[in-house]
Amino acid sequence: MKTFYITTAIDYVNGSPHLGHAYEKVLTDVIARFRRLMGDEVYFLTGVDEHGQKVQQSAKKRGIEPQAFCDEVSQEFRAMCVKLNISNNDFIRTTEPRHKNVVARLLQQLFDKGEIYKAEYQGFYSTRQEQFLQDKDRNPDGSWPEIFGEVTQITESNYFFKLKAYQDWLVQYLKDNDGFVFPRYRQKQVLEFLAEPLNDLCISRPRERLEWGIPLPFDVNYVTYVWFDALVNYYSAVEDKPGIWPADFHVIGKDILVPPHAVYWPIMLKACGLPIPKTLLAHGWWSINGSKMSKSTGNFVDPMGFADQYGVDALRFFMIREMSVGQDSDFSLNQFLVRYNSELANNLGNLVNRTLNMVNRFAGGAVPAAVAADAELETELKTLWVKTRDEFLTLCEGFQFHVALERAFGFVTATNRYVEQRAPWKLGKSAETADQALLATALATMAEALRLAVTLLPAVMPETTEKVYGVIGYTPAGAWRERLDWAAPLTGAKVAETAILFPRPQAPEAAKG
Ligand code: MSP
Repeated sequence: MKTFYITTAIDYVNGSPHLGHAYEKVLTDVIARFRRLMGDEVYFLTGVDEHGQKVQQSAKKRGIEPQAFCDEVSQEFRAMCVKLNISNNDFIRTTEPRHKNVVARLLQQLFDKGEIYKAEYQGFYSTRQEQFLQDKDRNPDGSWPEIFGEVTQITESNYFFKLKAYQDWLVQYLKDNDGFVFPRYRQKQVLEFLAEPLNDLCISRPRERLEWGIPLPFDVNYVTYVWFDALVNYYSAVEDKPGIWPADFHVIGKDILVPPHAVYWPIMLKACGLPIPKTLLAHGWWSINGSKMSKSTGNFVDPMGFADQYGVDALRFFMIREMSVGQDSDFSLNQFLVRYNSELANNLGNLVNRTLNMVNRFAGGAVPAAVAADAELETELKTLWVKTRDEFLTLCEGFQFHVALERAFGFVTATNRYVEQRAPWKLGKSAETADQALLATALATMAEALRLAVTLLPAVMPETTEKVYGVIGYTPAGAWRERLDWAAPLTGAKVAETAILFPRPQAPEAAKG
């Protein structure tokens, strides 16, 4: 069986990690963890993009060497992965020799094959975007949009990669592989882009303009264009590991789908004679409080600080529950707290507390066996479970994680309702044998329903699942899918006295932003 190979984009280290970076890692982690639970061998790569103009400029501003600057900032990205419980197998930095060597080798190979040529180029250059602009990039009044920063006209000799020669091949490839881009409508955007003739890709930057990059192996007066360098990370990290390439999934933001990942990357690989990745998953962007996130205006969420304050799983849960994969979403503390209170604390947290409390009060702290035959209420809950589980799995297969979570928490709500209807606290007052049997059944049913509900959650909330398993005395065994069957593995399990899973956060009114 081929290893399921999944990657995130590699982040620029010109600034600290932000919520967008955190989301992409968590989303990719959820997919990776889900695939592992389903029995796949998974290899998960993330990392940082350290070359290019932006990094060179940021290092200069700080007055330190680019390498020292990268060493420092990349550490923050690595720390974020650890903090957010990201289960990556590797973390690549584009300044590592293992990466630089592969980039240089592929460039030399393409140069030797005549896929790269030198030519004079005159054009308008945006330093901020590190790209030459075209007339179609201009505003209607002829000026350049603000996102390009300062634009200057320059003439220089550069090396070009024969992108155009592969245009027809790529169009056909996209037509033959209509699941190449997820969501599907984004594949159409790629084809629309390809409806216009492609230009060959300028893959070099003269040394005098940019020092901080991988030198071209065939001309040391130039360094490699940052995208040609960065994209190769997906391959350079695993080239020496058999059975991994091609990637099954590149998880990226919508801004870097066209042209880098959907056009440059497949063509680069094709020209090198390497297999093409199976799927590009383009996610949407987060705004914060309705506007673009920006450190300078303070409209910014530091994912590390946020996780410290509200919990890693709460942050992971919120991002996955709130955003429909592929679409944009807004992050606000208010909305976070609404979900935190209603779904985590008052729904799941409440079910955990009730279960512990009642098993302690009425059964001496050990989960009893269900002794009464299932009545309507138990049958209903069990039927709902099967439906919930099956839908959950199908939704996750289709990356509809936000709906999958809604279903899982819907089952928690139904279990809380079951508890209210069975009212173990009333049964506990009765000495009747039938009531005692019903009481034992109610306790066993709620404990099992809780175990099953949290067994849906480890891809999104790994720590919470572990914690709940701990307090209900459950030692998971066997394949995940089998653990999702209604059974009675908790009979006799010793439960904890109490548990605080989701401590009370600040009230929304008191919370800023
Ligand atoms: N270095 C390139 C990627 C090279 S991949 C071979 C880059 N870096 S980035 O730091 O600007 O962005 C990294 C990822 O974060 C991208 O996938 C981008 O879409 C994502 N996000 C950046 N801001 C974001 C939001 N506001 N919301 C969600 N994701 C966002 O591009």
